[in-house]
Amino acid sequence: MNFDSTQAEAKAKRDAKKAAKGKPISKKKSKENLAKLAEQEAAAAARVDESEADRLAREEHIIATFASQKEQHAHAKDISVRDVTISFHGANLIENTDFALNYGNRYGFIGPNGSGKSTIMKAIAARCLPIPESIDLFFLDQEYPATDTPALDAVFEVDDERKALEAEAEKINDALADADEEEQEALNQRLQALYERLDELDAATAEARASAILHGLGFTPKMQKMPTKSFSGGWRMRVALARALFLQPTCLVLDEPTNHLDMEAVFWLEDYLAQWSKILFFVSHSQDFMNGVCTHIVRCRRGVCF
Ligand SMILES: Nc1ncnc2c1ncn2[C@@H]1O[C@H](COP(=O)(O)OP(=O)(O)OP(=O)(O)O)[C@@H](O)[C@H]1O
Ligand SMILES: [Mg+2]
Repeated sequence: MNFDSTQAEAKAKRDAKKAAKGKPISKKKSKENLAKLAEQEAAAAARVDESEADRLAREEHIIATFASQKEQHAHAKDISVRDVTISFHGANLIENTDFALNYGNRYGFIGPNGSGKSTIMKAIAARCLPIPESIDLFFLDQEYPATDTPALDAVFEVDDERKALEAEAEKINDALADADEEEQEALNQRLQALYERLDELDAATAEARASAILHGLGFTPKMQKMPTKSFSGGWRMRVALARALFLQPTCLVLDEPTNHLDMEAVFWLEDYLAQWSKILFFVSHSQDFMNGVCTHIVRCRRGVCF
């Protein structure tokens, strides 16, 4: 909420109190305030439906344009967008560039300090570019909040996604009965993808996998049971990283993931990410880490990229 709206709301509340007590309120001022409040309420209501991409454009001045797309395959696993320009406060960070991230590749994103790598990642994570809905994307940009949840639970709590997947699978199974041959093929493909994902999130093995990831990132068994509020920001960043790895999104976007890690955890992460079999798009200032993990390099120089 901005300063103006806070002030206007406070004034409106004061006026309402005065009115309740039968005290007079200045007609001109209250009219102005009510009009302003109504305007702000309308703007706030419009923002409820606002996409993350629109929010980035409005609040952070990050704007992406691209060539109009052919309709994307509903189960696409690759990202491919032509003629992309991303600007930040009016200056182009990349210009008229074809942007492609293919399934199975690990892209190391390099470029001079301030060339716009973090901003571009933010734009991708906000889906400012047309990324197929079938691609779930995880961008690690903030630490896990300080809560009573033990670190281990924070990593493997994915019940919401599991429930949604199970519900969708049930729906598809119902729809299969009435589908023609072509539709059945598409539905079966989706069903297979859903079951694969459910296997990945398998509750029976979830705790052990989450614990192995936390261990790799430096958490002793005792630390894994401690609430996240007992950790510093840096350690909660490790919890967030562990969660990202555990979730295994189709496209994992990491901006300097080694920043909060000691050498041992960096080595573990390098080995772990070197096995990443989906899409990885990451920035790291460590040349060794880059070499150990990536299969492809993406360069970002002012105005040109990819
Ligand atoms: N409020 C702002 N208005 C205009 N330009 C800004 C603003 N904030 C940052 N910038 C500039 O935007 C550019 C992109 O910054 P960004 O952080 O994305 O680069 P980066 O490649 O991630 O840098 P680094 O390697 O240091 O992490 C930089 O040149 C930065 O100075
Ligand atoms: Mg950066």
